[in-house]
Amino acid sequence: MIARLSLLVLLFAAVGCSSSADETPTTGPAADAFELPQDVHSYAVPGQARVTHVALDLDADFDAQVLRGTATLTIDRAEDASEIVLDTRDLTIQRVTAADGAELAFEVGEADDLLGAPLTVQLPEAGDTITVEYETSPEAAAVQWLSPQQTASGQPFLFTQGQAILTRTWIPTQDSPGIRQTYEADITVPASLTAVMSAEGNGTEGEGVDGDRMRYSFSLDQAIPPYLIALAIGELEFREIGPRSGVWAEPSVVEAAQNEFADVEEMMDAAEALYGPYRWGRYDILVLPASFPFGGMENPLLTFATPTILAGDRSLVSLVAHELAHSWSGNLVTNATWDDFWLNEGFTSYFENRIMESVYGAEYAQMLESLSRTGLDQELQELDEADQHLHLALEGRDPDDGMNAIAYDKGALFVRHMETVAGRERFDEYLRGYFDRYAFQPMTAERFVADLNEHLIQGDAELAEAINADAWIYGPGLPEGAPRVESEAFARVEEQAAAFASGTAPAETGWGEWSTHERVHFLQSLPDELTDEQLAELNGAFGLNETGNSEIRFAWMKVAIANEYEPAVASLEAFLTEQGRRKFVLPLFEDLAASEWGRPIADRIYAEARPGYHTITSGSVDAALADA
Ligand code: BES
Ligand code: ZN
Repeated sequence: MIARLSLLVLLFAAVGCSSSADETPTTGPAADAFELPQDVHSYAVPGQARVTHVALDLDADFDAQVLRGTATLTIDRAEDASEIVLDTRDLTIQRVTAADGAELAFEVGEADDLLGAPLTVQLPEAGDTITVEYETSPEAAAVQWLSPQQTASGQPFLFTQGQAILTRTWIPTQDSPGIRQTYEADITVPASLTAVMSAEGNGTEGEGVDGDRMRYSFSLDQAIPPYLIALAIGELEFREIGPRSGVWAEPSVVEAAQNEFADVEEMMDAAEALYGPYRWGRYDILVLPASFPFGGMENPLLTFATPTILAGDRSLVSLVAHELAHSWSGNLVTNATWDDFWLNEGFTSYFENRIMESVYGAEYAQMLESLSRTGLDQELQELDEADQHLHLALEGRDPDDGMNAIAYDKGALFVRHMETVAGRERFDEYLRGYFDRYAFQPMTAERFVADLNEHLIQGDAELAEAINADAWIYGPGLPEGAPRVESEAFARVEEQAAAFASGTAPAETGWGEWSTHERVHFLQSLPDELTDEQLAELNGAFGLNETGNSEIRFAWMKVAIANEYEPAVASLEAFLTEQGRRKFVLPLFEDLAASEWGRPIADRIYAEARPGYHTITSGSVDAALADA
């Protein structure tokens, strides 16, 4: 049944049909149109045999913390290919069979800590599907199994996080972003829970199995990189936002989420007006339990998001603009390997800012851009020169090493720079064309530069020199002529930070009228050293220890730690145990561990908080505390 279905889907894709509104094929280029670069983070040999479709049939066993079942892979093979190499990590492979049920020989190679182990399967003489029977390990890095105590609903919860190279810990497939795959899935869960995926099928009734289990079915006939295959299981409810959008969350959170994200439909309209049609049908947001290690993850049709952006006043929704923008940059046009992560995140961060400008105005967008510039300047001071290039050589390293301000903020600044020198109108037209030309295709720095030359620069030597793409992409720091980022609102905030430092009362600064971002910038602009009296004044006037706005809380905690301010420690402990978003957790532990005052506090809080963290967060904090 599964095999027949996947064949149909493949046929469907091969004749260029698609479920999206326009005529772009949804499965990427013909194999010979563009030679995929070697992905140093995958064992796959796509020139020999490549996966084009994944059909999962998995049972979620919450007691054993194991996903168990089969993955039936549809394979496009070279005529003389006798085997296919898949990526796996911490999977137990029971057997591999051909479509006719015959057993196929397979071998699991030596495991590398980072990459996992290659799974080599002898292909059948005939037929283009293989079925892998397997189960995951309770330690699978992509899967977090949450106990009832770790969720808002008091029910168990599971979510996956595939990016960058973790999908192989729950699906035996070719886990490389250049190898796009359609997928379908049957997921069986306890009857009290609901499964959702980055696919079509969310919200459709499950089918009862064995009395106390339910089976949910999903499919996606647009080919995606495997890091975007995503699953969540929990006590979930849905609320509609607009005709194409809505939220999924645990019952006690879902209404707050619906209210927080009310502007999402407007963001979609703004994004489409900028860079062309949204090609994925629906755009829903799943709010996860607080241990979700990232702010957001752009899983197609269903962004996964941290609850720490539920500030109550919609002030942190630029994250939604960011994940939505990935529906173009990243999910349509995808970095072919993690060496060009900036092509995903830099373009997206730029696009995010343009959406924010359209929906909330230029002044607001300038503040966001200025915050990003501050972060970039800091990171440039800390990183080795070789790590300041947009295009990286990550062989032998965790792709996570590239998840820093270079990819995001230097990347976005480069795109802004191209906009500035080419002119906004012309550049927007170029970008719209870029997303059309490469929809559902992998992208490299080289391929991008070639396209830029052909479609934007078009022989204009002066423009080429002004863009200076090679210096941006293959050089350190910021090339001369980088755009300046200015925010008048922030200039006023800086004046007030200085005024406070020299005696102005907190209430006189204007804080009461400021946006979240002005408040954050104010806290970041304070002098390095403050007295306990000054800190008490700030805390008393603005309720900083109690604030439910995670960005303000985080900025305040940094100030408090830098000044060894005891009255903030209880609040810090609460913040570090109530959520596990790495962006907040890691820097605070690093700051604590850097001082004699903070180190014992770090050790004490970490012992308490660590069991609740996702391994993505605890892995980073473990390393930081060991180094410090
Ligand atoms: N795709 C990223 C998250 C990611 C990157 C996960 C690399 C794993 C490896 C997502 O779009 C993202 O950038 N999230 C940011 C928020 C954004 C507003 C900058 C985050 O989680 O902090
Ligand atoms: Zn992103």
